[in-house]
Amino acid sequence: MAARTKVAVAAAACVAIALGFAGVAQEKDDAAKGIEAYRQALKDGNPAELFEMAGEELWLKPAGPRNASLEKCDLGLGPGVVEGAYARLPRYFADTDRVQDLESRLLTCMETLQGIDTRAHVEARFGTPKKDELVALATYVAGMSKDRPVDVAASHPKERAMFELGRRMFFYQAGPHDFSCATCHAQEGRRIRMQDLPYIPAKEGAAAGWTSWPAYRVSAGQMWSMQWRINDCFRQQRFPEPVYASDMTVALSMFMAATANGATMATPGIKR
Ligand code: HEC
Repeated sequence: MAARTKVAVAAAACVAIALGFAGVAQEKDDAAKGIEAYRQALKDGNPAELFEMAGEELWLKPAGPRNASLEKCDLGLGPGVVEGAYARLPRYFADTDRVQDLESRLLTCMETLQGIDTRAHVEARFGTPKKDELVALATYVAGMSKDRPVDVAASHPKERAMFELGRRMFFYQAGPHDFSCATCHAQEGRRIRMQDLPYIPAKEGAAAGWTSWPAYRVSAGQMWSMQWRINDCFRQQRFPEPVYASDMTVALSMFMAATANGATMATPGIKR
């Protein structure tokens, strides 16, 4: 091959590669626009509303050995105060001497007010009736914080420790692929299966992830709570399944919520 032809071929290859990249970038932009338009279209009729209603019904319904409702449940703002409570979770609770997220706190209220042994709820798989109850309750409570600013400063020493644990957990690499949360969620512009993955260690990305769950997932036709979201990401990370509402899961939520501090709650969300 003559030197000149070689150069021409190389140049053509470069152009082709450059065009190829431009094409991929264009495709990505189109996909992002498509997903955004689809979200907007669904916003007016988020099926999550049905779960909020079901959750409110469960909140008000007497249940368990004590035949009590959850109406006196203290979510951090005093017994019975639901409005705005989710925007301030996770937080430290003196009565349990633990930092709790919403779902962990709901378990506490079911135990103390209703006398329910919640082991079956903890062990139940997502998508089965006992977990559905918790997801509906979480959706109802979270919806009552819509449009409020996230107020999770992690100022109590135990909250601070939980935040640190969450941060370490987020960057902890292990498992058969040596993945951490950061592998998928701490790289700018990463997309898996048409879904923009938020850059969680910074406020904007943490807010994108934190403020829109519980969310209705259109592709699955399911309502997911944050505990379910985290559980599924452990699966994607090829980690052992985390225990529902365990400290490790609360710590990850604490890390995300405190990083998103000040952002606006958009619960319940709607996702692909
Ligand atoms: C192997 C890649 C991968 C790993 C590792 C991973 N995730 Fe995810 N994560 C995803 C994908 C993909 C989605 C979007 C899922 C979907 O819509 O189907 C997602 C979504 C999320 C969301 C919701 C984002 C939003 O915009 O609503 C949060 C929050 C989240 N992950 C947290 C975590 C945490 C915490 C960890 C570590 C325990 C983690 N992820 C580990 C792939 C991963």
